[in-house]
Amino acid sequence: MLVENNVALQPLNTFGIAARAQALARLRSEDDLRTLMASAAWRTPSVAFPVFVLGGGSNLVLTGDVKALVLKVDITGRRLVEETDKGWLIEAGAGENWHGFVTWTLEQGCPGLENMALIPGTVGASPVQNIGAYGVELQDRFHSLDAIDLHTGQAFSLDAAQCGFGYRDSVFKHVPTDERSFGLAGRAVITRVRFWLPKPWKPVLGYLDLERKMEETGIRSPDARQIYDWVVAIRRAKLPDPAVIGNAGSFFKNPTVTPEQCADIIARDPKVVHYPMADGSIKLAAGWLIDACGWKGKTMGHAGVYEKQALVLVNKGDAEHPCTGGEVMTLAKAIQTSVYERFGIRLEPEPVVL
Ligand code: EPU
Repeated sequence: MLVENNVALQPLNTFGIAARAQALARLRSEDDLRTLMASAAWRTPSVAFPVFVLGGGSNLVLTGDVKALVLKVDITGRRLVEETDKGWLIEAGAGENWHGFVTWTLEQGCPGLENMALIPGTVGASPVQNIGAYGVELQDRFHSLDAIDLHTGQAFSLDAAQCGFGYRDSVFKHVPTDERSFGLAGRAVITRVRFWLPKPWKPVLGYLDLERKMEETGIRSPDARQIYDWVVAIRRAKLPDPAVIGNAGSFFKNPTVTPEQCADIIARDPKVVHYPMADGSIKLAAGWLIDACGWKGKTMGHAGVYEKQALVLVNKGDAEHPCTGGEVMTLAKAIQTSVYERFGIRLEPEPVVL
């Protein structure tokens, strides 16, 4: 394992933003991290601290050079840990590509992750924001994870309850504010994640886009591979491929409002897309709100709003002149202002802004 200085981060973030890391270490194993933590480089504050953990860089906006030691987690490996008559327990290294892992589980005959096919990023980043799509969230299939504490070097494991999952949220996104609050942002490196895929497998087909596919094809009882193919097709049609157009997936979270607020908005905008939640609140489609404000396909500087999905901000520059993180955030703020002025709702960005 090597610590490199002044490393270009453009190939390491899916937005394709040009920025440099003061130092970067590629971790191929837990031992690499232990070796790094025992080295002189780790104890030289000017070089080594703060530390930033990088997964697939698919949920990240870089607004400048990263004055930190970036830990790029490249720990690989996928294995079936256990199969019982109740389900499959599967483990993957944090550095595994998420979609590659989903595909592999299906090839092994272990269904359950198909609705989350083609989400960009790594396995290690998947619990951080509790990724989700087409009716399934990571927390529905999560078993446990292994991590290493960056302060003590100790390895530890967390189950689902300890991860504090919420909508696009977990303990890994929170910084502790006092001694009673629990947050692991910047404190832990996730090394391995385990998933529990229950038997018998049950398809999750409640999402409108999947219902449409069933209508179109006449297939009423799709198997997991069929759902996987549909999800891949839906995502390809709606979402930009980061290998072609730089982006960080959904840029804002879908906001929740009270039924009264929602009724207010419906009175003015009857078409607002909204879903009632189990706790009585109402979730609104942020993409619809942004679209309604006329942002779809608009560009500011080298940053733009994707023409097929207003929730996704994209890099309108090219490899030599990419958008900057500042341009992305200026556009994001302009969108927030217009959604607030029209609907009284504050949109919250989903990616990590550095
Ligand atoms: N809509 C518009 N205009 C737009 C975009 C959306 O009218 O420009 C409407 C759609 O017609 C639809 C509704 O808004 O009725 C919701 O859109 P969609 O089904 O595309 O889903 P989303 O709420 O925009 C969420 C996740 C996605 C995930 C999809 C599918 C968040 C922030 N985003 O998007 O996750 O793939 O559902 O489950 O929750 C991501 O997190 O990066 C991501 C892509």
